[in-house]
Amino acid sequence: MNDTVTDALDAVVRGLSLDSYRWHIFLCADQTKPLCCDKGAGLEAWDYLKRRLKELGLDRGEAAILRTKANCLRVCQHGPILLVYPGGYWYRHANSEVIERVVQEHLLGGKPVQEYLFLTNHP
Ligand code: FES
Repeated sequence: MNDTVTDALDAVVRGLSLDSYRWHIFLCADQTKPLCCDKGAGLEAWDYLKRRLKELGLDRGEAAILRTKANCLRVCQHGPILLVYPGGYWYRHANSEVIERVVQEHLLGGKPVQEYLFLTNHP
């Protein structure tokens, strides 16, 4: 890579805190084919997630939690489906109430929300 590319990527890494984030949330929302939940419910969940991470100061910096809107996570039922890495924690029915619990109890508190967890991928 040339220096310009490296500098541009370094700026993105710093801007998004990619070198220090602890968690990355993927949420099925704004789907092309809304199968796991209706489109409105997915968008409402996504908006809530974005707003809460910002309000809690978790959208950047050393404690940053990354978020990515996924068109479909291929589960396609009992959504919105929410996936957390590292660890591969799969949550169902991720509405605003469940998202709040996942953030507070799991990501900040260290205790996964068993009630809505349907799979983990870690050994
Ligand atoms: S539409 Fe949400 S997982 Fe497929």
